[in-house]
Amino acid sequence: MNNKRLLNALNLKENDHRPIWIMRQAGRYLPEYRKVREKYSFREVSETPELAAEVTLQPLKRFEFDASIIFADIITPLKAMNINFDFSPGPIIENPINNPRQIDALPDKFYEVAPEVQASLKLVKSELKSHQTLIGFGGAPWTLAAYLIQGKGQKDFPAIRRFASEHPESLQSLLTKLSDLSIQYFKEQIDSGAEVIQIFDSWAGLLSIKDWQTWIQPHLLHIVSALKASNIPVILFLQNANHLVEYYCELPISGIGVDWRVDLSKLQSKLKDHIAVQGNLDPAILLAGPEITKKYAINLLNSIDPKGHIMNLGHGILPNTPIESVHALIEVIKNER
Ligand code: CP3
Repeated sequence: MNNKRLLNALNLKENDHRPIWIMRQAGRYLPEYRKVREKYSFREVSETPELAAEVTLQPLKRFEFDASIIFADIITPLKAMNINFDFSPGPIIENPINNPRQIDALPDKFYEVAPEVQASLKLVKSELKSHQTLIGFGGAPWTLAAYLIQGKGQKDFPAIRRFASEHPESLQSLLTKLSDLSIQYFKEQIDSGAEVIQIFDSWAGLLSIKDWQTWIQPHLLHIVSALKASNIPVILFLQNANHLVEYYCELPISGIGVDWRVDLSKLQSKLKDHIAVQGNLDPAILLAGPEITKKYAINLLNSIDPKGHIMNLGHGILPNTPIESVHALIEVIKNER
C-alpha cells in the first residue's frame, strides 16, 4: 500500500481511511487567509509564488488533509493567450470575445504558460509530508470559454450559447486553442511536481447531451489522452450536470467529482472497479455547525464503499463556514471506515 491515500483511492486500492481534501480549502473561511488578503489582492497572492505557497499550505497546517491544491484560478493560464482579466471576486475579462476575428487573433503556440504557478508548485511540494498529494488543476475548455465570451460569471452563461449558434466553427477553433493551452499548462504543472490533475468543468451542466458531444467531449478526450503518457491520474469535476455524468465517465479518467445533487452511491455502483468517485457533501451543511456536519458526513460515508472514494464537498467551501465543521469532517473520516 502506497502511503498517499489520494493516489490509492484513484487507483482503486485499499486505504486505512478515506482521503479527504476540500475544494477551495485555501480561502476566505480561514482567518489566516483573510489576513493575507487584507494586504494583497487575489492576483498578487496567486502570482507571487511565496504568497501562493503560503496560502496553499495554510489549510494543511490546521487540518489533516491528504492533498494540497495549488492556489491559482482556472483563468490564470489565459494570460499566456494575451487575455487580460481581474477578480471581483469572480473573474472579470477585460475584452470579452464577441466575434470570430478576436478568436483568430489569439495565439496558438505558447512558450511557457504560467511560470509563477510552476514556482509555487515546487515550493509547496518541498513542504508536503510524504502522505500528502499535490494537485494541479485547470478549467475545461468549455468552462474557460464560457467566461471568455460572457466576460464574467453569469447565470446560465447565455453569451456562449448564443455564440455557439451563430459562429460554431469559430467556437470550435477557440475550444481547440484552449485545449492546446491546457495540455501545455498541465504538462508544466506535472513537470513541477503535480501528482494529480483536476479539471474543473463547472459550467458543463448548461448543455444537452447532443451539444456536450459537440462542444465538450472531443476536447476533453484530446486533453485526457495527451496526459495519458505522463501516467498522472486525472479527476474531472462537474457541476449541475446530472444528465451528463455517465458520458463524462466514458472518458479515460481516474476520478469523477460531482456536486451534491448526484446520488454518489448509485454512481459508484455503476462505476465499480473502473473510476474513483469524489465528493459530495453539500457545503451549506457545514454552515450548520460540527454536530450536524458529523451526522450528514457519517450518513454519506456509510452509503459509499471506501474503496475508490475521495471525501470532498460537492463544491467549494463557503466563506462563512465555521472552522469546527471542518474539524468535525476530519474526525468522522478517521473514525469511520
Ligand atoms: O483551494 C482551491 O480550491 C484552489 C484554488 C482555486 C481557486 N479557484 C481560488 C479562488 C480553484 C481550484 C479555483 C477554481 C475555480 N475558479 C473554478 C472551478 C471551481 C468552481 O468553483 O466551480 C471556477 C469556476 C473559478 C472562477 C472563480 N474564481 C470564481 C467563480 C470566483 C469567485 C467565487 C468566490 O468564491 O467568491 C473566483 C475567485 C477565487 N478563486 C477565490 C479563490 C480563493 C476567491 C477570491 C478571494 O479571496 O476573494
